[in-house]
Amino acid sequence: MAKPEIRYVCRLCGRVSARMMGRCPQCGEYDSMDEEILTPEPPVNSKKGQRGLSIQSKPMRLQEIEGGLDDRIPLSMGEFARVLGGGIVPGSIVLVGGDPGIGKSTLLLQMTMVMAGKTDHGRILYVSGEESEKQIKMRALRLLAADERKIKSLPEDLFLVTETNLDVILQHITAVKPDIVIIDSIQTVYMPEINSSAGSVTQVRECSSRLRELAKSSGIAVFVVGHVTKEGVIAGPRVLEHIVDTVLYLEGDRYQAFRLLRSVKNRFGPTSEVGVFEMRGNGMVEVLNPSEAFLAERMVNVPGSAVVVTMEGTRPLLVELQGLTSPTQFGNARRTPNGVDFNRLLLVAAVLTRRLGLHLGEQDIFVNVVGGLRIDEPAADLAIAVAIASSMKDIPVKADAVLLGEIGLSGELRWVSQLEARLKEAAKLGFKTAIVPRRIRRGEPWPEGINVVEARSLREAIQFALIADKKEN
Ligand code: TYD
Ligand code: MG
Repeated sequence: MAKPEIRYVCRLCGRVSARMMGRCPQCGEYDSMDEEILTPEPPVNSKKGQRGLSIQSKPMRLQEIEGGLDDRIPLSMGEFARVLGGGIVPGSIVLVGGDPGIGKSTLLLQMTMVMAGKTDHGRILYVSGEESEKQIKMRALRLLAADERKIKSLPEDLFLVTETNLDVILQHITAVKPDIVIIDSIQTVYMPEINSSAGSVTQVRECSSRLRELAKSSGIAVFVVGHVTKEGVIAGPRVLEHIVDTVLYLEGDRYQAFRLLRSVKNRFGPTSEVGVFEMRGNGMVEVLNPSEAFLAERMVNVPGSAVVVTMEGTRPLLVELQGLTSPTQFGNARRTPNGVDFNRLLLVAAVLTRRLGLHLGEQDIFVNVVGGLRIDEPAADLAIAVAIASSMKDIPVKADAVLLGEIGLSGELRWVSQLEARLKEAAKLGFKTAIVPRRIRRGEPWPEGINVVEARSLREAIQFALIADKKEN
């Protein structure tokens, strides 16, 4: 018999090495190399060695293939359906990733409770490797908010099982014949014939490939939960992202209520689509008007607060940005961003210092995006700058104004994409003024209901934005 071969695989980036290393040479993580014992490959012509959807695959004409555009299982959670591209595609495999404790299990259990028994495709098997059936039931009851009527009519077609052996899980699937299977989580399941522990790169890759084969050959929709590490990489394997059809990330600040469900890959719909939820005592509640929710706690006429319209996929969202400057007590002046990029904040602070003469050198600067959102697009530069300037000068920003624009190194304002959609959303929420970069080409007229002020530079924009800031400039 051939001697089993040993190799080492990085849990984070999948880098393979022939010898053990304390630190991964690719991603630099310490202690991330897992030992993996490779069993010799079976001969290719044996049945087991045949990889693929089915052994008797056969090319077909496009017109002969069954199925249409809207062959989807409807999902009555609108925000979830939106992210999937409008319902669940039978035979698809969807990865739901996110930090531990962010609400993945809650969201999927809620989805199953909504779906189970409601449609012709309402037979669901929920496989958990992390919680017992009893714990899941407790959670389910909690989601129903102890509503007696609903508890009496618990869905009949929802099956729960705690299992981590993939072979056994596949047997359960054959027995239950569900339309939808949830695997919570992929890091807990394992194939006994592979000699490495659950959660290792090989296990995760092989298990998900097996689940994909199941999905494609049987038409069952499979949802796979994957935990994510701090760096934003699906723990274990990035490889998972290539195997599945759709990758959804559940994001948000654990200490804040809002959760964003974001699609980063979707074979059956648009990517970078976002659904907004709020984590409450009885589970995830859809936020139908997110902009309103993000602005709900805003105090108007207070220095250091500015409103920006950020694009999350195709959806404009109004978000409050707060800035605070405070004289440095000792040592170097600190810059503390929360929800915006550190380097972006440095750039904005440098432009404010050099082009507008604000003395930020001896000031600590804090910037915060309200609601636990993260804004990475440069369109928020202007709002960051104005929030800081407003705090520094102790003059509030006009309460009914939104600010949009990327800042260049010379203090000029640069164009932002999808301005029209952003302005419409601002007008819808009752904002009366928008301060935007100057247009180079005159195109269509600005959307109605909002007074658009074009500013060439950051200096001009700040003059427009701050209430009666005449004497200083
Ligand atoms: P969970 O879905 O278990 O997270 P994940 O599967 O992503 O690890 O969510 C756990 C958190 O959600 C936990 O901190 C408690 C909170 N939670 C609520 O706030 N309300 C609820 O109704 C439920 C079920 C959980
Ligand atoms: Mg969980």
